[in-house]
Parts: sequence; structure tokens; C-alpha cells
Amino acid sequence: MKILKSSSELKKELERLESKGRRIGFVPTMGALHKGHLSLLDFASKENDVVVVSIFVNPTQFNDKSDYKKYPRILEKDIEKLNKVKCDYVFTPDENEMYPEEDNREFSFGNLDKVMEGKHRPGHFRGVALIVSKLFEVVKPHKAYFGEKDFQQVAVIKHITEQMKFDIEIVSCPIIREEDGLAMSSRNMLLSDEQRANVSLISRTLFEAKENSKSLTVQETKDWVIRTINENPLLDVEYFEIVDDSSLEPITEWKQTRGTVGCVAVHVGNIRLIDNVRFYS
Ligand code: PAJ
Repeated sequence: MKILKSSSELKKELERLESKGRRIGFVPTMGALHKGHLSLLDFASKENDVVVVSIFVNPTQFNDKSDYKKYPRILEKDIEKLNKVKCDYVFTPDENEMYPEEDNREFSFGNLDKVMEGKHRPGHFRGVALIVSKLFEVVKPHKAYFGEKDFQQVAVIKHITEQMKFDIEIVSCPIIREEDGLAMSSRNMLLSDEQRANVSLISRTLFEAKENSKSLTVQETKDWVIRTINENPLLDVEYFEIVDDSSLEPITEWKQTRGTVGCVAVHVGNIRLIDNVRFYS
């Protein structure tokens, strides 16, 4: 496994491998790796010859400065984990490498950034689109792997991949959860023991909502989820939306033939967690 900080060096190596017919799979991350990240690597290693992971805490996607500051950075531990799995290149650029000068590129996301994360974290998806397109330009993968935990992010990445005509297949991978159902997240390590014991209510409520939805309307399901989570004094729902899985438009009536996902963001003290559940495929 090679660890590289320089984009030009990584680009050169990968172009050499590509010219020999090797298939390149790419997993972009912000580090503090957990089994969710490693599951993406596992998919990438099964479907490609070369696996590339990037670790870069991307400042442009944080609309909240303190969230950026406290984001966990544990590169040595990450490298230890990557050493135990199939991973050929770890790209660990610094800020200067990715943003040598201000990049004012704008993207158009249609409706995709007007709802949920886009609405509550202004500028977030522009930052994600900016860094992912820069990383794609360096790595030029055949396939890139993203987790459904960040459901809206996958939709945004698919959209910009088409818009920018990148010849890359975007693969979305299932959410990996802790034993009690909590969606794995790098931010989970910031939770106190008391907070950690309470946050499993989030996924439990989503799973129950899926069951309850058979006898409730969309609005009743939404109200029930928000009320149930908010009844816990440590948790504060920012939004819960039930949306069409491709347009991300909120739905008003259940239709079993339409892909439907419920997405939630919850504040736990000054930590913000997201999760989602599929109602219909
Ligand atoms: P990060 O939060 O580190 O996540 C990297 C990838 O891991 C994302 O595709 C995310 O959806 C996936 N992931 C996180 N938790 C997961 C879980 N429990 N199960 C399955 N997959 C999971 O997402 C980002 O970084 C950044 O926005 C990035 C795309 C790297 C751009 O900076």
C-alpha cells in the first residue's frame, strides 16, 4: 500500500496502471475510518484491480466552522486499518494540494440541493461537488463508491458526474450499522457515553416508522417520527422528510411502486447525525 500526498504523483502512477488495462476503484473519505468506510473498500476490491482511497477533511463542505475544527483526524489509526484490507493507494493531500488557489466553479443541482441537507447546510453540496470532481480528475477511476448513509450525497454525485461528463460508474452501497442499529459515522466517536446510549433511538424510530407506515398517512408518519425522537431530551430533530428516491421531492401519498426514502437529521448536543430508511424500493 502506497501513501501519497501529491496529486501529480498519484495521477502518474494511476495513468500507468490504467494504460496496462487495470480497472481502478475509488473510495473518497474524510478519514476516521469505520466499518462503513471499509465496506466500500470491500465492494471496490471485488470489482476492480486497483483500489484507491482518499482521506481529506474538506473545508469547503463544512458550513459550520466548529464542526470542521472538531471533525476527528486520526490518520495513523486509519492507515493501520487500511493496511489490513485490500487497498493499493491512500491519497492524503493537504489543503494546499487540493485548493492551490480559490476555485469559484459553480454547479447546478436542480432541486437536489434545495431540500434536506442542502436546505439546512447552505453551500455544503457545492463543497462536496467541488472536492469530488477534483478528486475524480486526479484518480480518474472506472468506478467510485459512496454510502447510502449519505443518501442525498449519492444523488448529487450522480448528477454532477453526468453534468461534467465524467466516464465513471457511481456505485451506491448499503448503510452499515452498529449492533443497536446506529448508522456508523465518524462523528459517533464525538458522542459522550450518555449520548451514545440515547442515539440508538434514531434508527429504532426509523425502522418502527416503516412498520407503522402501513397504517398511517405520510404526514402522520412524519409527525410520529419527529415526536418520538424529540421526546428524548438529548435529541432534537432538524428535519425528517419522506422523499422520492430519485428527485428527492417530498411525497404526500404512499405509492408502493415509487422508490421512497425517509431521511432524518438530529442534533445531539453540538453533534449532528443523519440517517435514513427505505420505505419502498
Ligand atoms: P465520509 O463522511 O468520510 O464518508 C465517506 C464515504 O463513506 C461516503 O460515501 C459515506 O456515505 C460512506 N459512509 C459513511 N458512513 C457509512 C455507513 N455507516 N455505511 C456505509 N457507508 C458509509 O462523505 C464524505 O466523507 C465526504 O462528503 C466526501 C464524499 C469524502 C467528500 O469530501
